[in-house]
Amino acid sequence: MTVRVSIKQRLLLWLLVPLLGLSVVFIGGTYAVERAAIEHYQDLRLRQIATGIPPRLKTADFRAINVKLFHGRDDFLLQVWTGDREIYRSTIDRGLPRFTQPGFGIRSIGGERWKVYLRHAGPYTIQVGQSLEERSALARERALHLVAPLILLFVVIALFTPLAVTAGLRTLHRISRELDARHIDRLNPLDPTGEPAEIQPLVQAINTLLNRLGRAAGAQQRFLADASHELRTPLAGLQLQVQMVEQAGSDAERRNGLEALKASVKRTGRLVEQLLATSRLDAEGSVASRGPITINTIVREALVRLDPLAQAKRIDIGLVHDDEAVVPGDGDELMLLVLNLIDNAIRYTPVGGQVDVALWRGNGTFDLTVEDSGPGIPQAERTRAFDRFFRGAGHTVAGSGLGLAIAKRIADRHAAAITLEDAASLGGLCVRVRFPQDRPSTRPQFADPEQNRLA
Ligand SMILES: Nc1ncnc2c1ncn2[C@@H]1O[C@H](COP(=O)(O)OP(=O)(O)OP(=O)(O)O)[C@@H](O)[C@H]1O
Ligand SMILES: [Mg+2]
Repeated sequence: MTVRVSIKQRLLLWLLVPLLGLSVVFIGGTYAVERAAIEHYQDLRLRQIATGIPPRLKTADFRAINVKLFHGRDDFLLQVWTGDREIYRSTIDRGLPRFTQPGFGIRSIGGERWKVYLRHAGPYTIQVGQSLEERSALARERALHLVAPLILLFVVIALFTPLAVTAGLRTLHRISRELDARHIDRLNPLDPTGEPAEIQPLVQAINTLLNRLGRAAGAQQRFLADASHELRTPLAGLQLQVQMVEQAGSDAERRNGLEALKASVKRTGRLVEQLLATSRLDAEGSVASRGPITINTIVREALVRLDPLAQAKRIDIGLVHDDEAVVPGDGDELMLLVLNLIDNAIRYTPVGGQVDVALWRGNGTFDLTVEDSGPGIPQAERTRAFDRFFRGAGHTVAGSGLGLAIAKRIADRHAAAITLEDAASLGGLCVRVRFPQDRPSTRPQFADPEQNRLA
């Protein structure tokens, strides 16, 4: 199951997590700095208190000094001794033992650690101590003062980010509504003016898609019109032939009529087959399977399937060069391509002619060539020969004009280039299909199904 994270959640996550991390670092850093500053400052105060007591003083005066020095905060422990007698203690219920070493020192008493400053002044021994825990508490207090504004910042971000996102996404909602409300025929582009910069690429992409859809729909309509037109002629012919058989005066006439009818039905069947192949290739987005296909096997099978046709015309047909050619692709589509090329070569070559099929391994490419000894295609017709329903003039061979268009479409889908040349040795046409070899650097990029569709 995929978890759907909304843009709002994503933004909040992206904002709050780094902010949280930064806050932790910031507060930790502040604590460390504060702790060092407090250490220094409080040491100064310990010494100040100890040195601030003059050598000759009455007991009562200590209390006044105490108030002055401690500023009401009970975080020091001041003790004064004369000889071994403790004469003053700033807090009645707390006291430290008297130390001997003058100056600063750290002492552990009852599990608590103290920073102590000791000074001998005339008859007095003055000792000022402060608990280290007290110092840490001070630093913590200062650092925690920063937390409150940070929490406020978090709340503001958490509240305002979703609002900002909602405002930003309003355009998207508007575009969705507009597209939703559209009739299937309205494929005019969206107006990108005034849309936010982030939305522009999306609007542009939708417009490109609408444009392609429009062109594809137009092509489909044209194809449907052409196909119906192409079907009308043979169907009218069939009708006529049926009438002729019905009205036949003799058995011989009827037999002839039926023969002609059979041939027409076969031709119409071929037309329907070619039409189906064309529309199937149009409908399929990309090459269905991309398994490694051995073209040699496909060519051999195609030669077997078309052998009766070649035999009927006494055409010498064969595979004259057989380098192994393996390409990624769809076996059925490649078979259709090979069948159409060899079918053309046999059909357009006069009786007793020759057809040579060959597979060549080139430098990073495989070439499939189908050469014949037929009339060839005049230079001026070669580009148009790949157009749907194009039929060359000047020959009587029956056909629908779809074979080369189908072959070209399949070649495109396999990143192969298809060209029409003069057959060097046989004198007729040479159709060359150049496949890239399946090496990482030359791996075929399967053609975008939308392009090339409008041949
Ligand atoms: N080997 C060839 N020799 C001479 N002309 C050819 C050859 N192959 C194709 N052509 C010419 O190109 C035209 C288009 O060929 P294409 O295969 O597309 O259609 P078709 O053969 O007429 O019909 P079908 O859809 O039944 O194949 C043909 O009508 C023919 O004029
Ligand atoms: Mg053909």
